[in-house]
Amino acid sequence: MKISPNARASAAQILFAVMEDGVSLGDVIKPSLPDRALVQQLCYGCLRSYFLLSSLLQPLLSKSIKKKDRILHYLLLVGIYQIRDLNIPNHAAVSETVAAVNIINKSWAKGLVNAVLRNYLRQQDDLVTRENEEVLFNHPQWLIDKIKLNFPLHWQAILKANSERAPMCLRVNARLCQRDDYISLLQQHDIHATPHPIVDSAIVLDAPCDVKQLPGFYDGLVSVQDASAQYCGFLLPLADSSAVLDACSAPGGKACHLLERFTDLRLTAIDISEIRNKLTQENLSRLQLSAQLLSADACDLDTWWDGERFDGILLDAPCSATGVIRRHPDIKFLRRENDFKALANTQLNLLQHVWQTLKPGGHLLFATCSIMSEENDGVIEKFLQQQSSAMLITLKLNIGHATKHGWQILPGEEDMDGFYYCLFQHECQ
Ligand SMILES: C[S@@+](CC[C@H](N)C(=O)[O-])C[C@H]1O[C@@H](n2cnc3c(N)ncnc32)[C@H](O)[C@@H]1O
Repeated sequence: MKISPNARASAAQILFAVMEDGVSLGDVIKPSLPDRALVQQLCYGCLRSYFLLSSLLQPLLSKSIKKKDRILHYLLLVGIYQIRDLNIPNHAAVSETVAAVNIINKSWAKGLVNAVLRNYLRQQDDLVTRENEEVLFNHPQWLIDKIKLNFPLHWQAILKANSERAPMCLRVNARLCQRDDYISLLQQHDIHATPHPIVDSAIVLDAPCDVKQLPGFYDGLVSVQDASAQYCGFLLPLADSSAVLDACSAPGGKACHLLERFTDLRLTAIDISEIRNKLTQENLSRLQLSAQLLSADACDLDTWWDGERFDGILLDAPCSATGVIRRHPDIKFLRRENDFKALANTQLNLLQHVWQTLKPGGHLLFATCSIMSEENDGVIEKFLQQQSSAMLITLKLNIGHATKHGWQILPGEEDMDGFYYCLFQHECQ
């Protein structure tokens, strides 16, 4: 995809790619993108408030935008979002957005974009938006309904949290420094942060920053990771020198955390994606850690397993990512209602296969960043019906909710991402 160097035009092109072609934001907003910070802010902001912005735009258009000109819809959302939510002077927001029409090859629409944005400026206090749930909560209705069904008591809090910006959270490398010392180091660099109240390795920054600004980042002192993902590293009972499998490991966040916590861990880190494994290798190198890194389908035991059983297994399974919508607002639009069944089947298949590689007495932690029970407890239910050697260990965390088989943190609770955890022990023979 060719993205222009003009921030408003880029944002419109990226929104078009996400909404019309199903491309993920992470695949297009690369570090090398010109004016990346602003483009990212425009895209994330427009997706977080998509239904509200569209509803504000609608009465300003005398006729609907033709399908072949659909990119103008996204450019106008970018324009309204800047006026409404960003600290950009109105005249600059309008003129820069109008200038972007040339870049997206819609020069004929200069007058239209100018008129709509100026009308918005004039009428913004009186515009009446539709009062439906999509507009109120900025999620597609099917997803609102699904979250309601899963969490009849918490659905509104979840939808609200999904529309907030997530904090930047760091994991301190326990091998190299103490959390309080790193917070002091940050302070010396004018970066203000607090210890996470629940997760011992986590630090929450008052404001996000570029990792380049973090002291010692390239020497491995810290990594960027949400506190709920860091929780995984504390839930799997391990000892120094244990043989551990991380069955879905890329980009290596949790694998590195385990290596930071336990010395001489013999870690096998598998991922099906060779490209994502390169990211794991980069993280291992930066943090001065090592693991056996394999590109393989974890279900295909013949291709990677030598028959030696593991003391512990982490299965951080591919999932709907419905717990991390606040960090990835494109998920609301990329997910489809019928994705969940296939994801649950994939998770069950992974669980059934990697279970065979666990020692009697060993532990397996199943985790997802999903909040949907058909992926989480639903998968565990089926697994337990088939696998008599699997014993559930009751988890009790300091935040979140017990579920039938595991534990669920909901998005926004203690400002954490949504995460599900379930711990098993292999019956001793
Ligand atoms: C939730 S992500 C893992 C995140 C990782 N544990 C971390 O903390 O950085 C799920 C990963 O599973 C991988 N995956 C999906 N199917 C797989 C399979 N059959 N075998 C191995 N890896 C798989 C994906 O490529 C993806 O990197």
